[in-house]
Amino acid sequence: MRIVLVGPPGAGKGTQAAFLAKNLDIPHISTGDLFRANISQGTELGKQAKAFMDAGNLVPDEVTIGMAKDRMEQPDAEGGFLLDGFPRNVAQAEALDAMLTAEAMRLDAVLDLEVEEDEVVKRIAGRRICRNNSAHVFHVSYASPRAEGVCDLCGGELYQRDDDSEETVRKRLEVYHTQTEPIIDYYKSQGLVVTISALGKVDEVTERAMEALRRRP
Ligand code: AP5
Ligand code: ZN
Repeated sequence: MRIVLVGPPGAGKGTQAAFLAKNLDIPHISTGDLFRANISQGTELGKQAKAFMDAGNLVPDEVTIGMAKDRMEQPDAEGGFLLDGFPRNVAQAEALDAMLTAEAMRLDAVLDLEVEEDEVVKRIAGRRICRNNSAHVFHVSYASPRAEGVCDLCGGELYQRDDDSEETVRKRLEVYHTQTEPIIDYYKSQGLVVTISALGKVDEVTERAMEALRRRP
């Protein structure tokens, strides 16, 4: 399956993607995680992306589309993938369509996670990420690690993302409404959008998502 996950910052895209990718046996491709890995490795791409991310803005399409394309061309993504955080504007959605069409492929679904703003602010404020692997995500009250500040999965140090300050979160939400939400209408016109509520426990949301994917037209 080829799936795009969309939703505001803090909706739980990364959290759900980890479970959905496992259930569906497809790789989880997160452009945010790819940028963060480049930043921690000190690559040129990471240096280009960091200032945009810290300000809550989108990284320019020239950088993002090439990086996403390279990742989607890896052998493990041949049979499908779950995209998290890409595409994030209509130009990226059009670029993805062009890439897939060139390979005679198409998307199967766009899973839209709905959650109100108060809840995303709470989720982001309490989020803690593992230094070793940004897919290891915790929350100080909703998904707390057994030992404070230590990743349950690998023992790595947990930290708060630089772009999780209140001011930057507000900017990211504004960018989501103005630049990313229009892709939902873009994909609705292709009949691909499945919307679910992202409220409730993590495993309840995963079950809701799996059910919605099974039932999609
Ligand atoms: P990215 O990393 O994609 O961030 P985002 O979209 O802002 O999403 P988040 O990672 O903040 O949230 P999430 O929905 O994954 O939530 P999570 O599962 O962690 O992008 C970061 C930046 O990179 C962008 O601002 C941009 O600069 C750049 N970028 C990335 N892609 C780009 C692109 N395509 N083009 C241009 N620029 C790009 O959950 C949040 C918290 O809530 C966690 O603590 C979790 O434990 C908790 N939680 C999750 N689910 C639940 C639940 N059901 N109940 C209670 N708590 C929950
Ligand atoms: Zn870890």
